[in-house]
Amino acid sequence: MYQKRLQDPVLENDWHAVYLASELKEQPVGVMVLGERVAIYRTKKGVHAFQDLCIHRGAMLSKGWVQDDILVCPYHGWQYDSSGQCVCIPAQPRGEKIPPRAKAQAYSCMEKYGFIWVCIGEPSAELPHFEEFADPQFRPLACGPYTVHAAGTRVIENFTDFAHLMFVHQGLLGHPDYAELPDFKVIKEKERIYIEDVPIFQPVAHSGSDKSEGTTYVYRKEVYRPLSARLTKADPSNGQALWIMLTVLPVTAEECLVFMVVSRNYAFDVDDANFIQFQDMVFDQDARIIETQKPELLPLDLQVELNHKVDLFSIAYRRWLKELGVVVGTI
Ligand code: FES
Ligand SMILES: [Fe+2]
Repeated sequence: MYQKRLQDPVLENDWHAVYLASELKEQPVGVMVLGERVAIYRTKKGVHAFQDLCIHRGAMLSKGWVQDDILVCPYHGWQYDSSGQCVCIPAQPRGEKIPPRAKAQAYSCMEKYGFIWVCIGEPSAELPHFEEFADPQFRPLACGPYTVHAAGTRVIENFTDFAHLMFVHQGLLGHPDYAELPDFKVIKEKERIYIEDVPIFQPVAHSGSDKSEGTTYVYRKEVYRPLSARLTKADPSNGQALWIMLTVLPVTAEECLVFMVVSRNYAFDVDDANFIQFQDMVFDQDARIIETQKPELLPLDLQVELNHKVDLFSIAYRRWLKELGVVVGTI
């Protein structure tokens, strides 16, 4: 189906996680970022991204192959180096000059936190360095990606929400008898909004905890880009903490792919699969709700939905999106 590239002055200059790094090999693959088809592939020099369109006759470069670090278009075999420059047109007589316009549109591409990241515009900032997802005293695990038929903004808002834990994740991350939230305040800085010291009673302790009964965890949640957020859930009695980073790839305005890293500073002896399966289960519970929400796009006009004082973080998020000028996934 033909999909037009979505125009967004903020998101097109952001980095988006597009693929699991462990799964990207030399063979190119096609992904979609803001409605734009993108081909990504790996060579000895690193990871690369191009607009998934050969300038010659519009074939998809992701259907081609890599040969000696050169990407070959599957249609007429034009060859592109990693800067996007065409270096060989097989049908052209040897010795003739390659037309200067014969180029693939290269995008910024990098590997971090277990994902391949692409920016289809000019990166407005570097990806932040978060030690809890990168340094060896923690154990980061890539989860997902999860396809959600909803706007990425709705997914981020859900990630920042506390009041659903006792219902959507009832029995796991909350209990309806402990639904009342304390007063909290949202802190806004230039490049982030966050909230901290929020205690939440949870019926089951996390995998690898020495607690068998319920525990009160202390949360900190932060949104640091329009479609990227992280949280910490800590047990103050023993210093155990779990971090989660969630970043959403806006595939189209109403479909997204959610990438997540969970990282822990405890229970390295517990099978990693337990932590990944737990996230799969919890995120599936979220996705089922998010996909039912109307309007599909997040209303930035605060009169459109009923905003309560317990929604302070979500209100701050909507205000921030408006201030930044984010268009995709909002109305
Ligand atoms: S369309 Fe790519 S080489 Fe012709
Ligand atoms: Fe949730």
